[in-house]
Amino acid sequence: MHKPVLYQEVINLLQPRSGQKFVDCTVGAGGHARGILSASSPDGLLLGMDVDPEAITLARENLREFEGRFFLVWASYITLIEQLKRFSWASVDGILLDLGVSSLQLDNPEKGFSFRTDAPLDMRFDPSNSVTAADLINQLNEDELAEILVRYGEERYAHQIAQAIVRSKPVTTTGQLAEIVSKSIGHKKSAIHPATRTFQAIRIAVNRELEVIEEVLPLTIQALAPKGRVAVISFHSLEDRLVKDFFRRESKDCICPPKQPVCTCGHQASLRLITKKPVSPGLDEIQVNPRSRSARLRVAEKIVASG
Ligand SMILES: C[S@@+](CC[C@H](N)C(=O)[O-])C[C@H]1O[C@@H](n2cnc3c(N)ncnc32)[C@H](O)[C@@H]1O
Repeated sequence: MHKPVLYQEVINLLQPRSGQKFVDCTVGAGGHARGILSASSPDGLLLGMDVDPEAITLARENLREFEGRFFLVWASYITLIEQLKRFSWASVDGILLDLGVSSLQLDNPEKGFSFRTDAPLDMRFDPSNSVTAADLINQLNEDELAEILVRYGEERYAHQIAQAIVRSKPVTTTGQLAEIVSKSIGHKKSAIHPATRTFQAIRIAVNRELEVIEEVLPLTIQALAPKGRVAVISFHSLEDRLVKDFFRRESKDCICPPKQPVCTCGHQASLRLITKKPVSPGLDEIQVNPRSRSARLRVAEKIVASG
């Protein structure tokens, strides 16, 4: 099992100790979860969640040596509060969100996340969701598709690509989509594959990725005990911006517009920033795992309102 992204940094900043409770909201293959369980030995507890049932099976296997100290649930992290109630955990000491796609998902052609292998255009993290990437693409009109490419892919050639996709309907495979995108924008000089932004945008739309991040962030504060920490690893600027803005807002006592002379918002800080700037992987990690290069880690600690 290879080390997950920013592994040591997550452990150093979450500071797991024995007797504490943790939630890994995106347990994946259980790499970070192993680190947390090991650092909180002999009796730290961990609840791991994932929407991909294959991840749950794999995590169960990889965490065998910690049997009795972890619980795994196949559920979205937006059910965080319900899950804690189920386990009668009043609060937790640390929460991790490692956003995005796992290497296992990217490398599994059946999931349809990658333009490198031809496969059915699926892209669902949760196979029980009804709408696949193919369904979405084939339902949308040109303007709706272009909007998704702009909003979630920051794609400059969104209209050209959307037009080409709509003309080629039905689009059913990753290879077909990659080819349509490449042909529609021609040979523009770029360090990345021409379909990278389109695939990212469609994946974010299929899984409502930004909406669920916005939904879960306030729940993490609700779930944390005072001095508990939340760590979030994001993989692109859209995710990172949501986390950065949320942490900034929640670490301020007043969120009135700057020019307003008297505070009327009544807002109170509930977080203290632990990472003033996001933590990025070092060169050593990027060399071993090039996919880690865009990862950014932000950590905040829950504070008790000053009253
Ligand atoms: C980058 S991987 C996590 C890898 C993990 N930290 C490890 O060490 O193996 C992200 C995981 O989040 C899961 N995921 C995506 N959206 C989710 C959601 N809304 N709720 C729970 N899990 C989610 C994906 O299925 C994927 O397994």
